[in-house]
Amino acid sequence: MTGSLVVAGLGPGSDTLITPEVVQSLANATDVLGYAPYVARITPRPGLKLHQSDNREEIARARAGLQIAASGGRAVIVSSGDPGVFAMAAAVFEAVEAVPEWQRLDIRVLPGVTAMLAAAARIGAPLGHDFCAINLSDNLKPWALIEKRLRLAAEAGFAIALYNPRSASRPAGFARALEILREAGAASRLVVFARAVTTPHERIEVHTLQDARADLADMRTIVIVCNAETRRVGRWLYAPRQVS
Ligand SMILES: C[S@@+](CC[C@H](N)C(=O)[O-])C[C@H]1O[C@@H](n2cnc3c(N)ncnc32)[C@H](O)[C@@H]1O
Repeated sequence: MTGSLVVAGLGPGSDTLITPEVVQSLANATDVLGYAPYVARITPRPGLKLHQSDNREEIARARAGLQIAASGGRAVIVSSGDPGVFAMAAAVFEAVEAVPEWQRLDIRVLPGVTAMLAAAARIGAPLGHDFCAINLSDNLKPWALIEKRLRLAAEAGFAIALYNPRSASRPAGFARALEILREAGAASRLVVFARAVTTPHERIEVHTLQDARADLADMRTIVIVCNAETRRVGRWLYAPRQVS
């Protein structure tokens, strides 16, 4: 039997934002693997094994999915949002790099709607001009690098989507990130705090960076620091297409 591994994005929360090709891959799967809250979104059925694991076990999870594929199973590793954005797809290829025979497996990455795009759509078009995304987690990179990227992104005038803004293990990090952005001259910019987007717990607030408080974000929040040209029109925000 020929096995396969699909790395699939489940989107930001609403089932209506799961793509048809992801739905189909889940319907064909023998095994679904992922961080427990994401696997909990999958409806159990006879013949489908669900493997839940902790969010720090990415490489072990990737290897488990590859082993299932190598022994003939149809494994699907699920991520929230898009699997290539701060998620499982890179971990899978890191595992493949270490075991050359896994390069021959049928591996596919199926995109999903990433949190920043879902949040941007809710508020209008704050990412309509140049933007970047920065992960504020310092699990896999030094905090000094995060500070440098924040500063340079603000100086370059990008709108900035901040993933993983705040966790219980580093409560001071996000406050420091806001401070760095203010120091870089972005204090008057608008900031969108979008929590649990597309779920029943969705909450969206807009502040200026000057007034933004760190406790407005948690690990279910994506923060969009708008560019300096961003305009309000009624309840919407948009980044003008032309910048001089
Ligand atoms: C480990 S990253 C995973 C990102 C995911 N792969 C994606 O493309 O959206 C987790 C972070 O994504 C953001 N996030 C994911 N889903 C979200 C949602 N529904 N609403 C707001 N932020 C979300 C939060 O910043 C959270 O801390």
